[in-house]
Amino acid sequence: MTNQTLLSTHGLRKSYGKRDAKFEALRGINLEIKQGESVAIVGKSGSGKSTLMHLLALLDRPTKGEIHLNGENTSKLRQRKLNHLRNKEFGFVFQSFFMNANDSVLNNVILPLKIDGVGRRERKQRAMHALKIVGLETKAKNKAKDLSGGQKQRVCIARAIVNNPKVIFADEPTGNLDSATGAKIEDILFNLNQEHGITLIVVTHDQELADKCQRQIHIADGHVASDKEGALIEDDKATREIEVYEEEPDEEEGDEEYHEDDDDDEENEEIIDRFLDDENADSDGDGFIDNNTQPHITHVKSKGSK
Ligand SMILES: Nc1ncnc2c1ncn2[C@@H]1O[C@H](COP(=O)(O)OP(=O)(O)OP(=O)(O)O)[C@@H](O)[C@H]1O
Ligand SMILES: [Mg+2]
Repeated sequence: MTNQTLLSTHGLRKSYGKRDAKFEALRGINLEIKQGESVAIVGKSGSGKSTLMHLLALLDRPTKGEIHLNGENTSKLRQRKLNHLRNKEFGFVFQSFFMNANDSVLNNVILPLKIDGVGRRERKQRAMHALKIVGLETKAKNKAKDLSGGQKQRVCIARAIVNNPKVIFADEPTGNLDSATGAKIEDILFNLNQEHGITLIVVTHDQELADKCQRQIHIADGHVASDKEGALIEDDKATREIEVYEEEPDEEEGDEEYHEDDDDDEENEEIIDRFLDDENADSDGDGFIDNNTQPHITHVKSKGSK
């Protein structure tokens, strides 16, 4: 964590509806989030957690108050600039954000790069690298809808990191997952936070997950009820090795059709095959590419190599 403030809110308010139906979901939130922090936003159902997360992520505008990103007041920015900032600086792991179900896993991960205007070859290579990080490179060709719940969450993480974001926003990233799969999702997220310095902002009902964050912000009735350093368990959290697990390549799935553009299949095949065949890419077997084929996410150290 650095001392640099990444996001700050000033008197943030959000109401929904009008007149009699008006509901104040956020009632004056003042927060400062530093670059590289891991922050859990906790609180009862309906307390305003997701509303706050959507505002922080610049997905929605406040009714009153300001959000500053890197010291800049975002309410002064035009929608176009906001969209650009969001795509460039933020990654999202939201269950409701999932995905083009009938499109391939690869194309789903590629999307933020496409929006950002990254060239075709580079975006495929970077998307494959992100899939490798979450252990799903062999599922690149599958349709997104054919994956399991945990795999879908991992695709969401791959898409969230493909643009080398400064912040990952995750709303209930382990909700609806069994505990083993949830633990793997957590490992990936905390590894991104600790090894890559990505700021992690997580909404969760899971107290164990919240306890792994450096800081817990408790929201109650649209207010900050408490804001404190979390119960960090150093040797469990800080040095936990990321476990990238292998998916068995599925013979039948290899023939499945997928397409980013209709004339693109051959090039996709070539990039995926090269990626999967490249035995030298991960010589120490830690699940990360050693040669720097992906310029934006650097090699991740494994356990004890701080
Ligand atoms: N679009 C909307 N229109 C009207 N009311 C809304 C809207 N979105 C949220 N609310 C209300 O604002 C309050 C806060 O909602 P929010 O989704 O932020 O809660 P939450 O803390 O994320 O809850 P949960 O844990 O159940 O996801 C709730 O009372 C909700 O009904
Ligand atoms: Mg919510």
